[in-house]
Amino acid sequence: MSIFQSSTQAVPDQQDIPQHVAIIMDGNGRWAKKRFLPRVAGHQRGVESVRSIIKACVKRGVKYLTLFAFSSENWRRPQDEVSWLMQLFMKALEREVGKLHENGIRLKIIGDRSRFDAQLNALIDAAEARTSANTVLTLTIAANYGGRWDIVQAMNHLLKAQPQACSAGVDESALAPYLSMAYAPEPDLFIRTGGEQRISNFLLWQLAYTELYFTDTPWPDFDSRALDRAIHSYQKRERRFGRTSEQLQDNA
Ligand code: IPE
Ligand code: IPE
Ligand code: MG
Repeated sequence: MSIFQSSTQAVPDQQDIPQHVAIIMDGNGRWAKKRFLPRVAGHQRGVESVRSIIKACVKRGVKYLTLFAFSSENWRRPQDEVSWLMQLFMKALEREVGKLHENGIRLKIIGDRSRFDAQLNALIDAAEARTSANTVLTLTIAANYGGRWDIVQAMNHLLKAQPQACSAGVDESALAPYLSMAYAPEPDLFIRTGGEQRISNFLLWQLAYTELYFTDTPWPDFDSRALDRAIHSYQKRERRFGRTSEQLQDNA
């Protein structure tokens, strides 16, 4: 069983500052195009936004930040953009881990790692091991991640561990510990930058009761003020988890 409550089975604890923020960092390519720059220049600028949003989350007391860096569908992009993104990811890992560690940040990478080369996998293992005891913020990077992949891999692991589940069936709480974010509470706030209003196969299971926030701001322009606007919008929401508004007022 996960140590965290599932939003479909119990009403999770809520705070003013979202405990877990999950972001689809979109709009890098269009940001660059508008400036007559190559798409990769947008990805490069996107790394700056990652840095500033991590800092802002630490300052505001967010405990989990999850960033969608590369989806299982992004392999469909031109080969040179894919390899650029992989290089960027590797370089950022190499360069930033020390700083993350100094700031008490625990790093986790989720996604299907079987398509990464040995060097990248070794880098990920080392970065996760080095930062594993840190408690200020858990930063999760979703790389070659897909929400459907996650549910299927969880089911396959469960069946391996409990072959009898094949005939007996399973319930939500049996599957949950095998999901790739079992170490974190479900996201409170989801942000997608860049103007599109879709989930694009991100955390399908975990977003069951997450508050959704979409902004036209492209990721390279998303700064701490933009984050505050998203948090402010979150703070105005009434999270009912299936109950009525009257029930919430009665409990207040
Ligand atoms: C998001 O920006 C970054 C990744 C998907 C890696 P895009 O590259 O999707 O930017 P747009 O959507 O083309 O503007
Ligand atoms: C989603 O962005 C994935 C990441 C941000 C890593 P995309 O730009 O690839 O999403 P779609 O394909 O337009 O929905
Ligand atoms: Mg995009």
